[in-house]
Amino acid sequence: MKKVILVLILATFVACGKKKAGSSQSADKATETVKIDENAPKREVVVEAGDNIKFSVVEIKVKSGEAITLTLNNVGKMLKMSMGHNLVILKVGTDMEKFATDAIGAASDDYIPNGGKDVVAHTKMLGGGESDTITFMAPEKGTYDFLCSFPGHWGTMKGKFIVE
Ligand code: CU
Repeated sequence: MKKVILVLILATFVACGKKKAGSSQSADKATETVKIDENAPKREVVVEAGDNIKFSVVEIKVKSGEAITLTLNNVGKMLKMSMGHNLVILKVGTDMEKFATDAIGAASDDYIPNGGKDVVAHTKMLGGGESDTITFMAPEKGTYDFLCSFPGHWGTMKGKFIVE
């Protein structure tokens, strides 16, 4: 019973607009506990990133209402601390350059600044050979920027996440 209540509180917290999140743990929660509709059509997206500081895909198209399963594979060889990659989808209206600049100071939060308030969804920061899969509901129709928030990468590692 306690568990159910906890989950409800968490869901309400997320629904209320992801208020402030102080720690990296809450940042993860803010972006990863959005409820998946089991009956929604499913969409799988796979993106690779490597030591060339590029994503294999720069335009991702999905449909509104789909349950997205997004996998990022870091196919590089280098360590996370020197060549980490993640994939961060930003809310519409977020200044990517400012986000990327803020991310430089957010190493302890896996390079997700401001408690994740600007983020629709994000993978973990991955070293060479690592992989992460996240699931989330497609947000409302629109064009969203995505980037790798590892310091210095957003110049070449960015693209558009388009919800139709
Ligand atoms: Cu990167």
